[in-house]
Formats: sequence, structure tokens, C-alpha cells
Amino acid sequence: MDGTENTRNIGSAYHMGQPSHDATITEVGRGTPCGEWMRRYWHPVSLSSRVKDLPLKIRILGEDLVLFRDKKGKVGLVHPRCVHRGTELYYGRVEEGGIRCCYHGWLFDTEGRCTDMPCEPNNGEGYRQNVRQPWYPVEEKYGLVFAYMGPPEKKPILPLWSNLEEVGPGEKLIARNGSIGAGGDATIDIVPCNWLQDWENVMDPFHLPILHTAFSGVQFVPEFGVMPTVAWDYDPDGGMKYTAHRDLEDGRKVDRVTYVHFPHVRIVPSTELAAGQAAGIGWVVPVDDTHFTLFAAQKVPNDFKPVRRERIPGKTWVEMSEEEHQRFPGDWEAQVSQGAITYHSDEHLAASDRGIRMLRKLMKEQIEIVEKGGDPQGVTFDPAKAVHQVKSGNFFLK
Ligand code: FES
Ligand SMILES: [Fe+2]
Repeated sequence: MDGTENTRNIGSAYHMGQPSHDATITEVGRGTPCGEWMRRYWHPVSLSSRVKDLPLKIRILGEDLVLFRDKKGKVGLVHPRCVHRGTELYYGRVEEGGIRCCYHGWLFDTEGRCTDMPCEPNNGEGYRQNVRQPWYPVEEKYGLVFAYMGPPEKKPILPLWSNLEEVGPGEKLIARNGSIGAGGDATIDIVPCNWLQDWENVMDPFHLPILHTAFSGVQFVPEFGVMPTVAWDYDPDGGMKYTAHRDLEDGRKVDRVTYVHFPHVRIVPSTELAAGQAAGIGWVVPVDDTHFTLFAAQKVPNDFKPVRRERIPGKTWVEMSEEEHQRFPGDWEAQVSQGAITYHSDEHLAASDRGIRMLRKLMKEQIEIVEKGGDPQGVTFDPAKAVHQVKSGNFFLK
């Protein structure tokens, strides 16, 4: 044994290898294993309320697209470059029949059909019918625009969620787009790191007593400071859950049950520890490999008013200084600081990471199913099976 062998054992950073990420579960471009798996599902791409008579630039799963609402109220999602000679439809004009390119006026409906070629003899009759602007199907639900970006013959039914389907008297649905819960701010829509760093965090209940309570002060409720007993299970309906049991100091016992469903749905119960079923659904949508955005739809009381969410007394997350971010970090600091795409090669997963391990394993199985031509978990073509029963919640046992 020479001296080099001896010093390798002391963990010097000098001996670190070249780090790498696991592309199979993180990269979302067209043609990648994870990207093709993701493209078998519907994705929220915008708040419905944002889609008005001015075209919007959208970036989703690494693809740049243009979203618009025609004057009849129908939403369209198309490739940004006009098929004529490439001018961006972002500069187009929304009309009754679709979006009209500013350059030579070709008009495309919400499914990309060209219905007008004003510079062509006879309005392009005979040629026009063979031209199609590349497009994706969209549906509006829960105040969100959902898009399906996969193979047309595999388009599944848009999933519905039981908690959002049952809006009681005195309640209404709201839709939101924003960044990471406790750590971010609704004014920042796009988070600069890989989507999986946020989504797998949903299966990590052990960061609640540390990051959100002991380390940074109480960011949700003091009860989360009690170290939970946790069980993780796969769900027969697809995805997985954790059950975090806590014996609270006041004698109450509570099971906090949180689910993730494929490809990026998160169903997190009330962070105020309100009893009962989760009131909303969240989606961790990849913008590209190194950015994501969060969409949510939620039931709220009719008189609900959004509150200014202060992370430390007097300051929201964006108003905090660099030093305050260091002293009082939250989800944003914990997840974004892992890097654009975390180095899986350098991780040391432990017993408390069981949920992370299980989730990545199930993802890889689903990705492989798609690679072999099968249909992944959570995809259905039967309208009678559209509604998913929501089982997340804070359930008090005594
Ligand atoms: S480039 Fe769009 S109509 Fe000519
Ligand atoms: Fe968190």
C-alpha cells in the first residue's frame, strides 16, 4: 500500500471523482427515456386566466411553443415558427378563426389547419389543405390549460381528481402558478433546477422537522417538529405515498398521508395541519432539464383572500437579504442549491431516504414500460376511469 491509498480513506475533496446525474429520470427532451414517458401524460401549461387575446410564449418539457385563445374562446398550442417561412407566431394576431401570422397572413386554427392564405391565388385553395402548423391538443379544467405532447394515437383521458370534483357550497376553486412553497414566492414562476429535485422532495417527510422547523424556525406549524414514524408504500392506483405518524405533545395522534402520482402530481395535505383530506392538487412541471414551474388547483372558502406570505417577520422570500437566506433557508435553498441537476453519483442515501429510493425505482420501471411500447401507470383511455380518488390528508386518530 502506498501513501496515496492511505490518504484516499480520509475523504479529501482532492480525490473526488467526476460527478454525474442520472439522465434516465431527469432529462425531459423529446426522444429521451424520461421525456417520452412524460409525454404520455397531460401537463398543466398555463393558468386559463392568462390566455387572452395576446399570444404567450410557453416553454414546457424543453419545447418552445405559442399559446393563444381564439376569439371564439378556444385555446390553441402551436409550434412557434410559422410553417410558411418561420416567423414567430408570438407576433401573430388572434382572430375568430385562430392565429394569423404577421408576415404574410396565413391563418391557423387551434389544431394547426391553415384556413387562409391571403397572398396566394385563389386563397391557396388546393395547397392550403396540405399545410399544417404543428400543434398539440389542449383541454381546460380547474382553471388550468392542460396539454398533451405525446404520440397522438396514445392520447389518454385527462385525469380528474375527486377532491376538485366535489366543490361544496361556500367553496370555490382557485388555480395558481408559482414557485416552491415555503421557500419561494408567487412572484417567481420558474425555479432554476431540475423538476425531480422538487417532486421527490414530496416523498421526504424527514426534512419537515429539520429544515422547516428546527433549523429555520417554524415555517409551517410547530407540530412538524415532532420526529415522525414513517411508512412508504406503493399505491395500487399508481404512484406512492408516505404515512408520517406523530404522537403530539398535547396527546393527539396524527397520520399525515401524502401522495405522488405519475408523472409529477403531488397531493400534499394542509401545511397548517388542518384535519381531513387535502384540498388541492399540485403539479411539478418541467420547463426544461434545468427549470420547472409549479401549478396548483385548490378548493378554498368563497371569501378566500390571498395573504402576503412572510418567511421571516416583515419579509417575504424575495425581500430577504442573502444573509437571511443563509440563516433561514427553506425549500428553495435546499433544492436549488443541489445544482441545475443534482449529482446522483455523489449521493449517500440513508434509511430515511427510502421514499426517494422507491420513487426512483418505480419511475425507472415505468420509463422502461414506455420504452417497450406499453402504457405507464396512471394513463387511462376509458372515460369511466377518469376520476382519481384522492387519499392524502391529515388524519387525527384521537
Ligand atoms: S412566415 Fe408566416 S405567413 Fe409567411
Ligand atoms: Fe419542504
